[in-house]
Amino acid sequence: MVQVDLTRMLVNLSLALDFSRRGLLRHHQRVAVIALRLGEAAGLSARERFDLFAASMIHDAGAVTWPEKDALEVFDVSHPWEHCHRGYQFTADVPLLAPAAEVILSHHDRWEGGNPSGRAGAAIPLASRIIHLADRVDVLLDDRRHVLSQSEEIVRQVKELSGSVFDPELVDLFAGLAEAESFWLDITGPCLAENLLKMVEGYRVILEPAQLMGLACFFARIIDAKSPFTRHHSQGVARAASFLAARLGMTQGECFLMEVAGLLHDLGKLSVPEEILEKPGRLTREEFSWIKQHTYYTYWLLKPLDEVLPVVRWAAYHHEKLNGKGYPFRLRERDLCLGARIMAVSDIYAALREDRPYRRGLAWPEIEKILRGEVEGGALDRRVVEALLDSRRELDDIFYAVTAGCPATSRSNRP
Ligand SMILES: [Fe+2]
Ligand SMILES: [Fe+2]
Ligand SMILES: [Fe+2]
Repeated sequence: MVQVDLTRMLVNLSLALDFSRRGLLRHHQRVAVIALRLGEAAGLSARERFDLFAASMIHDAGAVTWPEKDALEVFDVSHPWEHCHRGYQFTADVPLLAPAAEVILSHHDRWEGGNPSGRAGAAIPLASRIIHLADRVDVLLDDRRHVLSQSEEIVRQVKELSGSVFDPELVDLFAGLAEAESFWLDITGPCLAENLLKMVEGYRVILEPAQLMGLACFFARIIDAKSPFTRHHSQGVARAASFLAARLGMTQGECFLMEVAGLLHDLGKLSVPEEILEKPGRLTREEFSWIKQHTYYTYWLLKPLDEVLPVVRWAAYHHEKLNGKGYPFRLRERDLCLGARIMAVSDIYAALREDRPYRRGLAWPEIEKILRGEVEGGALDRRVVEALLDSRRELDDIFYAVTAGCPATSRSNRP
C-alpha cells in the first residue's frame, strides 16, 4: 500500500466542510492554526498537538447543511449542541478519528457549566476548551476589515467572557499571543495551509488501508447527510462500483480503492446548497451551474491522493462522458480509464434506483432502457453497462443491504 499522509488529507478535506453561503471560509484551517498556537503555549506535546490539529480540522463536521453553518457564525450562538452531538456520532466509531469524538462533543461547552455534556471547568477536555476559544475568535473576525485593526476589539470581547464561557488560563495565553501582528496575519494570510502543515510536521500519521477506508466512510456520512434523498448514496455507489470492478477484472487492491473512490465521489456536493440538491422541479441554468461544480471540487479536494493513488480520477470523473459531453473537464473516451467508467455507471444506477424529490426510484426495465440509451448515445461504456445489467440480483442485494431501514428509499420497485 502506498503512503497516504493524514495531515495533508485533513488540510484539504477540511475545506469540504467549509463551503457556506459566504463562500469557502477556511474556517477549519484557521481554527486549527489558532488552536495549535494555544496548544503550544499551553505546553502540549507533539502527539497532543497532532490530536488537537485533527480534532480542529473536523470540529464542525456535524454542521452539515448551509443553514446550520450560518447559525454558527453568530458569536454568542445559543444552541450549538446539535452539531456537536452529530459530529460526535460521525466520529466515535471511526477508530482513526475516535480520539476527536469527545473533543468535538464538548467544543462549545462553557467553562462555567450548564452544558448538555454535564461537564464544566477543567472537566471539559483541554482540546475542547482550546478549540472553543479558537473557533469563537475566528467567528469574530470580519473578512471585510483589515485583521490587525480588529485584534484589540477581539481580545477585549474574549476577555469579557473569561471564566464564564472560556477557560481563564487560555484567555491569558491568547491575550499574550495576540500581541504579535504575525499571529493574526498567519490566520488570514495566503500561507495559511503552508503554516498549518509546518506546525504539525513533527508528527506524521501514514494511513493503513483500513484507516483510509474509515476516513472515506466518515466523509461519506457527511456528504450523504446533506439530504434525506441521498442518505445512502455514497455507500451504494461505492459498493456497486467495487462489485463491478471485480466483475471487470480489477485486482482486489483496485476494488478496495474503487470503494474508497465511491465513498468520496460526491465530496464536492458539500459546495452545493441544499435547496438546489433537493429542488423538486427542473433546474435553471444558474442552478445547474452549482451542480456542475461538484465534481470539480471533488477533484481538488482529493488532489493530495492523486500523487499516490488512482482514486481521484475514479471519483471525480463520474459525470464525464465518453462522447465529451460530460462535465466539468469535458474529457473524452481516451481520457477515461476503466475506473472512471465504472464510477459513472454505478452513480447513474444508484441515482435511478433511489427516490428523488421529483420521482420514485425506478425499476430494472426502466433503468435498463436509460442505460442502454446512454450507451447508444456514446456516453457510457458498453462493457460496464452490460456487466451491470448481467448482475441485477447481486446489485439488488447490495442496494438493499446498504439502504436497509432507510425510509427515504422505496422497495416498491423491486422486480
Ligand atoms: Fe462548532
Ligand atoms: Fe467552528
Ligand atoms: Fe455526482
